[in-house]
Amino acid sequence: MTASERYEADILCDHETITRIDRDIIPPSGAEVIDAKGKYVFPGFIDPHVHIHLSFMGTYAKDNYETASKGALVGGTTTMIEMCAPPRSEDTLEGFEFWMRNAAGKSACDFSFHIGVTKFDGKTEKQLRQIVKRGISSFKVYLAYKGFGLDDAELYRTLKLAKELGVIVTVHCENEALIAELQKKLLSQGKTDPGQHHESRPPIVEAEGVHHLMTFAKLTGAAVYIVHLSCKEALEQAIAARQNGVRVDVETLIQYLALDKTYAERPKFEGAKYVMSPPLRDKSNQPILWNGLRSGLIQTVATDHCPFDFKTQKVMGKKDFTKIPNGIPSLQDRINVLYTYGVKTGKIDLHTFVNCASTQAAKIFGLFPRKGTIQPGADADLVVYDPDYRGKLSAKSQYVNVDYNVFEGWKIEGRPSVVTVRGQVMVRDGKFVGKPGHGKFLQRKPSHF
Ligand code: URP
Ligand code: ZN
Repeated sequence: MTASERYEADILCDHETITRIDRDIIPPSGAEVIDAKGKYVFPGFIDPHVHIHLSFMGTYAKDNYETASKGALVGGTTTMIEMCAPPRSEDTLEGFEFWMRNAAGKSACDFSFHIGVTKFDGKTEKQLRQIVKRGISSFKVYLAYKGFGLDDAELYRTLKLAKELGVIVTVHCENEALIAELQKKLLSQGKTDPGQHHESRPPIVEAEGVHHLMTFAKLTGAAVYIVHLSCKEALEQAIAARQNGVRVDVETLIQYLALDKTYAERPKFEGAKYVMSPPLRDKSNQPILWNGLRSGLIQTVATDHCPFDFKTQKVMGKKDFTKIPNGIPSLQDRINVLYTYGVKTGKIDLHTFVNCASTQAAKIFGLFPRKGTIQPGADADLVVYDPDYRGKLSAKSQYVNVDYNVFEGWKIEGRPSVVTVRGQVMVRDGKFVGKPGHGKFLQRKPSHF
């Protein structure tokens, strides 16, 4: 099953690569045969937006490459692209080396990075050029947080450099100044609970962030990618800009498709588990996002996986919602939730499922056709998916390192039964059986000239 085709055949893999697809292939002697009868075979899924190491809001995201990549693989994700996010006060190249050391030899799945541009000066520009030569073809910019954000002149220069280098710029679009003002107002009114997070970052604040970026993208001609788009207002800005010639791709998250803002309003601080930015939105946005996927207005479904423990980290914001570390982990569950609550409910078809969870990310981020499809010459990253499996999601059975699961108790109708990365079996029936350090850094070439 690919983004465009569906057929029944055998797939022959030689070492790391798919070499032949045909009916009734006779396995070479010594070959391992995986019987996929009655199951789907999907290309390995790609999560183009995860946080593994992140120093953020006075604490650190909990995963490391071993825990995150095992969770990713058990859930069918064979490649992930992490946000390398050195804070503004730190050196960009040193940050990149640090992130690389965290992953190399430890990741079980293949990986790459978006390099965070958290300042733009002469030295950083030189370093960005070097980092692009080393195989990174996407930048990440935050418009939403102090300490990570760029001012407008820096944003303009970053996009100009990206255009020159053919790099795509991924951007978190929310207006930082408006958020700060709204937070102050709410706190001064004694509104401190997790449900206020949404009130401090309403859809219009996200739409303004998108509009702002669209203006800069139009002026510079740079290709941009809006990360974690959550609502109708923001999507309308992106579509209007696209009609106006802006080269913009859009990502939404499984959290926005499956959860809504009432979760963050749950009593007794339970809502803190569901605090992320942009916030979970009113349910009325969900059909618009599903329709965006079906119609091609939205390209990808990612996770923005960002794990903070409920008991020791989310609790930092018990008296003040602005201090709740932002993030909802979901790396392990993205594919099963998308399949059960998207495909099985008829919201998207199987081709759209493959397209938005694998193929589009490969195409946008310079990995296609090595990743993102099933064809001779592609990496043998395959997900044999059992549509007859029935089970429930739970923090108890997750490999990712966090003490809760926002989908706790949710039923799933299907899961990966075998997952391979470059020909090696990494997962069997919900269990990681691979080698922890098997993952490779994927060098990518700029393609957005
Ligand atoms: O709430 C979120 N999204 N946390 C992770 C950091 C970011 O904004 O991507
Ligand atoms: Zn973000």
